[in-house]
Amino acid sequence: MSASRPRLVLVGPPGSGKTTVGLLVAQRLEEPFADVDDVVEQRAGKSIYDLFIDDGEAAFRELEREVCALMLAEEPGVVSLGGGSVLDPRTEADLAGLTVVFLDVAISDAAKRIGFAQSRPLLAVNPRAQWTQLMNQRRPVYERVATFTVDTAGRDSVDVADDVVAGL
Ligand code: S3P
Repeated sequence: MSASRPRLVLVGPPGSGKTTVGLLVAQRLEEPFADVDDVVEQRAGKSIYDLFIDDGEAAFRELEREVCALMLAEEPGVVSLGGGSVLDPRTEADLAGLTVVFLDVAISDAAKRIGFAQSRPLLAVNPRAQWTQLMNQRRPVYERVATFTVDTAGRDSVDVADDVVAGL
């Protein structure tokens, strides 16, 4: 395994601000930032939305797992996972020993941030119900893998990034 692993990993559901907060935290720490969804899209040569449509969720999850394995072993700096990345037990195991922050979020804030737009295929139909179901299923996993949690309710990303850095 490489000597260089992420200093910090952000987890949480869609709309929790993982990418925005991750970038801000990386800037503060003067460290690189990487986002699992972005790397998945680069590798697939298409958007996650198209990947779900063309190849199905299983193909997306397989590629997501490959990217997580690589990044959690070798990527320095700050890494944001996709909202469902932690559901793979191998990825959960790879998080052991890393500092992991769960960005907790209420549905009202998540909806404002991402508008439950077309970019999230899992939320394309009945977004409120689907988001709530995802969060209910995943909350125990997010809480289990987290070193600490930051509540993002009603707060802007700069404040949340302050809390993340303060918790390190
Ligand atoms: C997913 C979340 C998305 C993306 C994909 C699946 C999920 O990432 O990986 O659409 O299962 O919750 P974000 O959490 O960055 O939206």
